[in-house]
Amino acid sequence: MSHASEFVVVANRLPVDRVTGEDGTASWRRSPGGLVTAIAPVMQRRKGAWIGWSGAPGEELEPFEEDGMSLVAVPLSAEEVELYYEGFSNATLWPLYHDVIATPIYKRRYWDAYVAVNRRFAEAAAGVAAQGAMVWVQDYQLQLVPAMLRQLRPDLRIGFFLHIPFPPVELFHQLPWRRQIIEGLLGADLVGFQRPGAAANFLRLARRITESGRAQGPVVQVGDRQVRAQAFPISVDVGELAELIARPEVRERSEEIRADLGGAKILLGVDRLDYTKGIGQRLEAFGELLEDGELKPGEAVFVQIATPSRERVEQYQLLRDEIEQLVGRINGEHAQIGVPPVHYLHNSYNRDELAALYLAADVMVVTPLRDGMNLVAKEYVACRADLHGSLVLSEFAGAADELRRAFQVNPYDIDGLKQTLLTALRAEPAEQARRMRSMRRRVIEHDVDRWAREFLEALEGH
Ligand code: ADP
Ligand code: F6P
Repeated sequence: MSHASEFVVVANRLPVDRVTGEDGTASWRRSPGGLVTAIAPVMQRRKGAWIGWSGAPGEELEPFEEDGMSLVAVPLSAEEVELYYEGFSNATLWPLYHDVIATPIYKRRYWDAYVAVNRRFAEAAAGVAAQGAMVWVQDYQLQLVPAMLRQLRPDLRIGFFLHIPFPPVELFHQLPWRRQIIEGLLGADLVGFQRPGAAANFLRLARRITESGRAQGPVVQVGDRQVRAQAFPISVDVGELAELIARPEVRERSEEIRADLGGAKILLGVDRLDYTKGIGQRLEAFGELLEDGELKPGEAVFVQIATPSRERVEQYQLLRDEIEQLVGRINGEHAQIGVPPVHYLHNSYNRDELAALYLAADVMVVTPLRDGMNLVAKEYVACRADLHGSLVLSEFAGAADELRRAFQVNPYDIDGLKQTLLTALRAEPAEQARRMRSMRRRVIEHDVDRWAREFLEALEGH
């Protein structure tokens, strides 16, 4: 591998997924998820290299070009997928970093695989980066990469961004390998978080470990280096969404969705099927509104898009059963023939269909129990140039810091959630427009380009 790229992104996944057409030919398609949506446009402009796993266990690929990006695949064996990805990343770190909503599993075998895979990613980055290049490491799956990479290539400028929450010290201390994780992150020059509170949590831990109480401002002294930790709230590609909602076929599709749902008010949820997203709480609240007679069947429908996610991890299997049982119960009790109150779609959709759904929705319901940012909330706002529609947003999503004019709610409080859903459904058009205008100003001014630019300028200036 040649040392050629001035800009390198290192993420668990490549930004493309393999799809097989009806004629059996394989091709690549942009993979969904906030991380890829945010970083792919930056990569295309900077002509960098993206290092990541292809998503298929055991697959070995030569470096290739796709979607205007140079892609370098890091292979993972089936056992590593189980221990590093499903295990340490998604059964240990994911629940620990999301307020232990599910119980984290601490297994030494998971940790050993996490170390080995992080080393492979660091070696791949060291092999691709040009002298003095900028390397941007992404997310909780790769927290050891910054220090490993610095050891291999001290000439590099290394940034790290955590897309999910960073927990308070009291929770983080559960982790048997807490010191190694902090030391791994301290290999970076700049560590970015979604919220100021997360950066503060990290700084507290890092100062304890390095015993550097003296540093001024958001920095930690590590030997002769200073590591900066700061919030950079991620955002959406407002231009891409504006272009999507201007397309006649997207607008027609949105009208078609409304007509198919018989003119009922539409409440919409769009999430990966993940226990952090509060899908059960919002359905429970909606079901109770039907039960209480506050909503009549046919008056309002709930469309819940739930993208399949991490399907081999036990907590995700339990969640799927729980949600599907709940949907069945609500529909069993309240459906009339041809009019089920909950439309549950366990599928992935393209951007056109999502934009049409956003345009059709009267109330967008985003109720995570904890979420780093939540891009769906910002996508909805970016799509509502018509100033119609209401956003119900959990206080526990990072987006709540910026989207102050959403109908904010504590998703654990089912009565509060019911009341907020009704208020949002019944908001007058002028009230909807006032709120939407204010939220749109924020999202348009702070789009994903600005997020990436601010992070990379801070890294360059470090
Ligand atoms: P997370 O990163 O935890 O999945 P976010 O809300 O921040 O949550 O980002 C989710 C991203 O995935 C958004 O850009 C959203 O549009 C996209 N997405 C969510 N559900 C689907 C789906 N069913 N099909 C395609 N894309 C989806
Ligand atoms: O930030 C959350 C995150 O885990 C990203 O790292 C990832 O791209 C996305 O969610 C989807 O998760 P997964 O790659 O496990 O399907």
